[in-house]
Amino acid sequence: MKSRNLGKTQLSTPEISVGCMHIGHELGDKTKVNSFINSCLDLGLNFFDLADIYEKGESEALFGSAMSGGIARERVLLQSKCGIVRDDVTTGYSTDRGYVLKAVEGSLKRLQTDYLDVLLIHRPDPLCDYEELAGTLALLEQQGKVRYFGVSNFTPYEIKLLQKFWPGTVCANQLQYSPTHSYMVSAPLHTNTTSEFALMRDDGVLDFCRLEDITIQAWSPFQAKQIRGSYIDSDKFPELNAALQKVADKFGVSKTAIVIAWIMKHPAQIQPVTGSTKIARLAECVKGAGITISREDWFEIYCAAGNVLQ
Ligand SMILES: NC(=O)c1ccc[n+]([C@@H]2O[C@H](COP(=O)([O-])OP(=O)(O)OC[C@H]3O[C@@H](n4cnc5c(N)ncnc54)[C@H](OP(=O)(O)O)[C@@H]3O)[C@@H](O)[C@H]2O)c1
Repeated sequence: MKSRNLGKTQLSTPEISVGCMHIGHELGDKTKVNSFINSCLDLGLNFFDLADIYEKGESEALFGSAMSGGIARERVLLQSKCGIVRDDVTTGYSTDRGYVLKAVEGSLKRLQTDYLDVLLIHRPDPLCDYEELAGTLALLEQQGKVRYFGVSNFTPYEIKLLQKFWPGTVCANQLQYSPTHSYMVSAPLHTNTTSEFALMRDDGVLDFCRLEDITIQAWSPFQAKQIRGSYIDSDKFPELNAALQKVADKFGVSKTAIVIAWIMKHPAQIQPVTGSTKIARLAECVKGAGITISREDWFEIYCAAGNVLQ
């Protein structure tokens, strides 16, 4: 697995990050999570994505206790997020200093570590005082509790507001992206037309992140748009599955691998954040990272997912 620096930082991360949103539900106990982490490390995947809210803190707690079963902290890169106020349902967002400091303390405790490699602000907070937030990030950095900072689901202007007060680097913006969720590619393609695809939902975040050297991390790369679960092998997506299979056959890999290759074909050097807890699937993802599909393959998959060309 090749590595890339995250944004403008010196933090070298594998091209794929492993999302841990479902480890409690899917793997259940610390022995299985320990084995999952070790298998990921064997694949070269040492960058794990978590959040304070995942499984109400249980994902972080399980990850932490699995690590304590013999995995050295330096072998992994830990990214967590905070800012969504949620118990069973989301009731708000907060970037107030007290809230963020307490959230980070909670993550550190559950993960049984004294530092995070990366902290992302999970979603924009409409009531965010960016000057206060920048001060909070500076404090966390100074205390050695967080090495690098990024955001998730932010628009360019929200990032600009943070940059107005935060002199450090915004290393990543985590956004949903897949063949069935590719608005950030589609809107510029239809610019200045009356097509519904021209609707700009993100203020040009893709090109903005490229200009600013902010790594885009693609969350939910396999999640279907209109249904629960993955579009892979779903009879609701026959054209997409046929197109993925055609390219998969060409390279002798699975459709899962080709989705990763499709995401990584984009010159923005997007970093997929996988959600699977199945090592065989992650191994396919690693294979996909080593494949360069053609321009024609990319467009065929894009269109088969229901996107249209101008
Ligand atoms: N920043 C944000 O707002 C945000 C939001 C959501 C998620 N995330 C992050 O992104 C990560 C990924 O999100 P996700 O879990 O929704 O995404 P995903 O990778 O798109 O996975 C969705 C589900 O598809 C299943 N799946 C079925 N067939 C598959 C196949 N052939 N290949 C791969 N997966 C297949 C996987 O389950 P199996 O375990 O059965 O393989 C997985 O649970 C999360 O873990 C989290 O870290 C971030």
